[in-house]
Amino acid sequence: MSLIDDARAVRENAHAPYSRFKVGAALRATSGTVHVGCNVENVAYPEGTCAEAGAIAAMIAAGDTRIAEIAVIADSPSPVPPCGGCRQKIAEFADGDVTVTLATTAGTTLQTTVSALLPGAFGKGHMEGD
Ligand code: THU
Repeated sequence: MSLIDDARAVRENAHAPYSRFKVGAALRATSGTVHVGCNVENVAYPEGTCAEAGAIAAMIAAGDTRIAEIAVIADSPSPVPPCGGCRQKIAEFADGDVTVTLATTAGTTLQTTVSALLPGAFGKGHMEGD
């Protein structure tokens, strides 16, 4: 099964009664293990979490630490990109050249990279004083 297939499957479990926009994410850790997540909304809207955040939390909980590849899917007119916050979350655990596959449920895909999605990212180096 491809990462997109995994993302497509977990998307079905999304809890999105407010936006009605279900999102699925699947990542392959550098260990080879696949971790998945879906968006989980809340009646207190800001408390909702994105699919990518769920997949990252599952990865960390399982003991993996680095993302080798990640895919995101939604029923969107064009391949769905991670929101700004999720770009930063992905960048925490992925090298800049890691492939991010954006997909629609209709079958359109777009491949990009972590650094293309988050140019000029804030990183550890910015906290080093002189
Ligand atoms: N959403 C994600 O899960 N990932 C993204 O990268 C974009 C947005 C979710 C959050 C919310 O539950 C719904 O999509 C509408 O914004």
